[in-house]
Amino acid sequence: MKKITVSAPGKLMLFGEHAVVYGHPCIVTAVDQRMFVTVEKNSSGMFVLNAPEVEVSNYTKPIENLGVGQIPKGAKFIEIALGNLISKYNLKPAGLKVITRSEFSSKFGFGSSSASTVCLVKAISELFSLKLSQRQIFDISYKTVLDVQGKGSGFDVAAAIYGGTIYFKKFGSEIVPLKISDLNLIVGYSGIKADTVSLIDSVTKRFKGLEELKDEMLKAIGKIVDDARVALENQDFAKLGSLMNINQGLLEALGVSIEKLDNMNSASVASGAYGAKLSGAGGGDCMIALSSKEMRKKVENAIVSVGGKILSVKTNAQGVRIEK
Ligand code: MEV
Repeated sequence: MKKITVSAPGKLMLFGEHAVVYGHPCIVTAVDQRMFVTVEKNSSGMFVLNAPEVEVSNYTKPIENLGVGQIPKGAKFIEIALGNLISKYNLKPAGLKVITRSEFSSKFGFGSSSASTVCLVKAISELFSLKLSQRQIFDISYKTVLDVQGKGSGFDVAAAIYGGTIYFKKFGSEIVPLKISDLNLIVGYSGIKADTVSLIDSVTKRFKGLEELKDEMLKAIGKIVDDARVALENQDFAKLGSLMNINQGLLEALGVSIEKLDNMNSASVASGAYGAKLSGAGGGDCMIALSSKEMRKKVENAIVSVGGKILSVKTNAQGVRIEK
């Protein structure tokens, strides 16, 4: 029976997290650790999912019941995406087996849910000859993310589709690939799992009655992103570092950083990085530091000395692609 494997990259937010949820821009880069999804047609009448990295083993449901009843947490994105595709494109699959495999832990905050959603959509597009454009893949994948978690800007979906480094704004109405060379970025993992939706909600709660102040702070982050775009294109690393530190300061003021991340950032800057900040929702996951090649080892050691773990990742990775 016809079978296809698709892969998509994980992502790292460089600038603009949280502000992007309110329509401001962000800059995100795709990383060279990928999610793989294999989809196989059969005639069982069933949807079967194996996703070992999120502890889903032989989860089975009749195709006509997709999206109905209880769905295990680890199966939600794949099942809802498939249901969305079937209803939008009036597909009549006789049976489908889906297997996922990840090169990175879902704990890192690299966007495993978005990457697997994008892979599934691309794989179904190929299997059923739908010839979906990148924009159509974005629209149905982003709808799936909103169906599952209710909130999110869609930047991670765009990174998984387009790859490279992109300037992303207004829920995908502006997606601009940036022509930049690889960054000497150091990624430190805090060892703490963060929950994006509760961190978005925590900002709303913290600024209750202070909404205008919050809006001004988010606008300032948007300005940092626009300046960072220019600095990135000019390879002005000193300026980029300053912008990272200022962005981090605003994230701390929004209340989404934590002591462990603060310590990892401070240690990086104190040991010679141009700048450092948390990457993603905050509350845990990863931080990033930008350094020169010469200072790299020293900065890495400093991050480790305060309890961080260095993850080896390259930026600017290729977007979603068919593997075989
Ligand atoms: C999470 O990685 C980044 C946020 O801006 C959420 C989003 O943009 O969907 C906090």
